[in-house]
Amino acid sequence: MVTSKIISNNLNLWYGEKQALKNINLEIPEKKITALIGPSGCGKSTFIRCLNRMNDLVTNIRIDGQVLYDEIDIYGKDVDVVELRKRIGMVFQKPNPFPMSIYDNIAYGPRIHGQKNIDKIVERSLMDAALWEEVRERLDQPAMGLSGGQQQRLCIARTLAMKPDVILFDEPCSALDPISTGKIESLMEILKDNYTQVIVTHNMQQAARISDCTAFFLLGELIEVGKTKHIFEMPKIKSTEDYITGRFG
Ligand SMILES: Nc1ncnc2c1ncn2[C@@H]1O[C@H](COP(=O)(O)OP(=O)(O)O)[C@@H](O)[C@H]1O
Ligand SMILES: [Mg+2]
Repeated sequence: MVTSKIISNNLNLWYGEKQALKNINLEIPEKKITALIGPSGCGKSTFIRCLNRMNDLVTNIRIDGQVLYDEIDIYGKDVDVVELRKRIGMVFQKPNPFPMSIYDNIAYGPRIHGQKNIDKIVERSLMDAALWEEVRERLDQPAMGLSGGQQQRLCIARTLAMKPDVILFDEPCSALDPISTGKIESLMEILKDNYTQVIVTHNMQQAARISDCTAFFLLGELIEVGKTKHIFEMPKIKSTEDYITGRFG
């Protein structure tokens, strides 16, 4: 049986007067990869930022509706947002390592949270992000010296070090070459055993290759969602078909 890890119920979001999300109802299945697709500006990033309250600091924003994470209302009054973002980590389009060593990039979060055995956590996280072999001899060197693809895997390792159970990826490969992209995709495949993953991607082949479910957004609305195979092979809605076949967007 597939359990829903995150459930968005009638989620609406406005930036000032402009409505960016319109009544989004979407369930994110546990330990699967869910791809969010749709043309630029349709609200994909806005939507995933709602899932770990990454948009809390945006001024002039209004949110209405509900996001449940393990049945907890994440916009509820008692939610510890720092804890929430540990559980629901995020990886961005542009790799954003901290300007410090490879080791310290991973150790940063666990140290702040008073964890012990930092060496072990660093090693484990880098291994789980398929980066350990490439960096084990140079842990004390600046993270900025890594290639773009390595930096992105470092950012994934940094997220893993916090022991999340959901990882949100916002176009994680759009700044990477095909080989680095392939490495991130294989990594996501491996991470499926332990993590629930959501990926925003503009790459249709990527969505088709790696995701289990696909949700198509258009102008702030969720147009169609289903098993990736169904969405790509027999979409029910004309605009979904037009988008995935490259007729617009
Ligand atoms: N911080 C913000 N303030 C105002 N408008 C925003 C903000 N972020 C996004 N938007 C607007 O919301 C809409 C959805 O944007 P976004 O979620 O970034 O789309 P996508 O990720 O699908 O490209 C766009 O019209 C965008 O201009
Ligand atoms: Mg975006």
